[in-house]
Amino acid sequence: MLQINGHNQHAIITGGSSGIGKAIARQLAEQGANISIISRSQDRLRSAKAEIEQARQSARQSVVTVVGDVSDRSQAEQAIQTAIEQLGPPHLLVTSAGIARPGHFQALPIDAFAEAMSTNYFGTLYCIRAVLPVMEQQQAGHLCLISSAAGLVGLYGYSAYGPSKFAVRGLAESLRAELKPIGIGVSVVYPPDTQTPQLIEENKTKPAATKAITATAKPWTADDVAQLILKGIQQNRFEISPGTEIKVLTRLHSLIAPLLNRYFDGIIARHPRQ
Ligand SMILES: NC(=O)c1ccc[n+]([C@@H]2O[C@H](COP(=O)([O-])OP(=O)(O)OC[C@H]3O[C@@H](n4cnc5c(N)ncnc54)[C@H](OP(=O)(O)O)[C@@H]3O)[C@@H](O)[C@H]2O)c1
Repeated sequence: MLQINGHNQHAIITGGSSGIGKAIARQLAEQGANISIISRSQDRLRSAKAEIEQARQSARQSVVTVVGDVSDRSQAEQAIQTAIEQLGPPHLLVTSAGIARPGHFQALPIDAFAEAMSTNYFGTLYCIRAVLPVMEQQQAGHLCLISSAAGLVGLYGYSAYGPSKFAVRGLAESLRAELKPIGIGVSVVYPPDTQTPQLIEENKTKPAATKAITATAKPWTADDVAQLILKGIQQNRFEISPGTEIKVLTRLHSLIAPLLNRYFDGIIARHPRQ
């Protein structure tokens, strides 16, 4: 199994222009890695590149930006191809590109469900399919898929987002089993609420009950989450669960579902729909 230590290695990070993805990119640059970041907005990529370059150990490390929408199969494949052409076969792929649109099931436009699946699930799958041929050739590499606590239990207000993150978890579980024999590691991450532009955006449309459910824990910083993710990858951990609450949820979610549902139902009853 390849040891991911950042030094002289190539990491591709989708969604690397913001939030958790950008924090991972910056920390890998501090450890000596060459970085490719993929996302849609050229401007955000440009400013993230400047930040990541600042964190490098040496000016010889490259930071490549690739514009691409991972929900579009050909754009995702092209973006991964471009990253490989620029910096060589990747040692690590982190799929952090993601969107979340909370809201009541009936109030969300039908497109929100397809968008969540296209970006969060298929965006992850397309990028993995595109890097696997070179990783298989090297019989080495590591895939890190970013799911969510909403990918472990169904949460009020996350009927579009949650199922897409359940799908990411399912994909990670299948891939772990399939890729282990050929030396490719897989991790799946269940980040807690993390202070990022996505969370700020979500908070604008979260139903009151969803806010109350998620308000029990203080949001983490993207840097702290990224640090635990990289530690987990470096230890070749399959499940990466930052914090005690997420650890308990990861281990026991099916077992404690009846208790959790009773607890959530109490909160929901105190926050009736407007
Ligand atoms: N923040 C949290 O509390 C939290 C909790 C659990 C899980 N997560 C998950 O963690 C991951 C990172 O989230 P974050 O909070 O760091 O969000 P963020 O700050 O909004 O960053 C999301 C990144 O994904 C990119 N992106 C979105 N849609 C894309 C698309 N179709 N194609 C390519 N890139 C795309 C964005 O850039 P462009 O918009 O320019 O494309 C941006 O770089 C997501 O998968 C999210 O679901 C977050």
